[in-house]
Amino acid sequence: MDKIKVGVMGACGKMGREICKSVLDDPDLELTAAIDVVNQGFDVGILIGRPACGVTIETNLNNLLTNKILDVLIDFTNAQALLNNIPRVIENGINVVIGTTGLTTDEIRNIKFLAEKNDVGAFIAPNFAIGAVLMMKFAREAAQYFPYVEVIEKHHDQKLDAPSGTAIKTMEEIAKTRKPMKQGNPNEYEKIPGARGGDFQGIKVHSMRLPGLIAHQEVIFGGVGQILTIRHDSLSRDSFMPGIMLAAKKVKNWKGLVYGLENIL
Ligand SMILES: NC(=O)c1ccc[n+]([C@@H]2O[C@H](COP(=O)([O-])OP(=O)(O)OC[C@H]3O[C@@H](n4cnc5c(N)ncnc54)[C@H](O)[C@@H]3O)[C@@H](O)[C@H]2O)c1
Repeated sequence: MDKIKVGVMGACGKMGREICKSVLDDPDLELTAAIDVVNQGFDVGILIGRPACGVTIETNLNNLLTNKILDVLIDFTNAQALLNNIPRVIENGINVVIGTTGLTTDEIRNIKFLAEKNDVGAFIAPNFAIGAVLMMKFAREAAQYFPYVEVIEKHHDQKLDAPSGTAIKTMEEIAKTRKPMKQGNPNEYEKIPGARGGDFQGIKVHSMRLPGLIAHQEVIFGGVGQILTIRHDSLSRDSFMPGIMLAAKKVKNWKGLVYGLENIL
């Protein structure tokens, strides 16, 4: 069987480099393109501390789209870069796997629309780690019995968006079993703005950013005389790779958008 030809957008980033390694190591996948706005002309192998592999960093997406050497493009950049590039990629008939976070509901809806219109497979996951997917599933179950809940998410201090895509998806999952309600003292007030965190249907969410962290989250439920904590830690970016490789292999099997790793496991 022919290998699936994969391009990585944001190839020089923290995630992009790991993804390039995993694609190069996967017998079913072939790395045919690496795109970034930095390191133009660098061999990807050298970039990831290995021997040269013959794929060099390109900054011009148009060249790639014209040459059509891609089955799947994996995007781990930032929301603005993604919105500038992904519509053109989809319009050129290339399937997309998106890990970039910070997209609004309308922006995700537009990617769905474009994928359906162009008969292309699109996949988006706010978190590609299986443990994080289970954390969301367990949180949804727990919220049936514990409606008082707050979310604390912790990431490295270079992250742009807050709260994280995982925190938003977690609260969306919890909202499927918990009615919107206000928590805390009705008369509570903040002496420092933001002290009580962001608010999603009455669920408070707190975003911590520190060097040394990768991606961590606690979902804390309070009940009478008891606390339930569901916690997930991505201790290295390896935790995301099996999910991303799986999506790269499966995305060409459907037309339109699939959202969430739980839907392809
Ligand atoms: N879904 C998940 O499981 C998951 C996991 C980790 C990170 N993320 C998300 O992935 C994204 C990237 O994270 P990171 O830590 O690798 O960030 P990073 O800043 O280390 O890497 C981003 C890369 O994108 C490049 N880039 C910026 N604009 C570009 C453009 N227009 N075209 C091509 N490349 C461009 C940058 O030069 C950089 O190399 C973020 O949105 C982050 O939240 C998602």
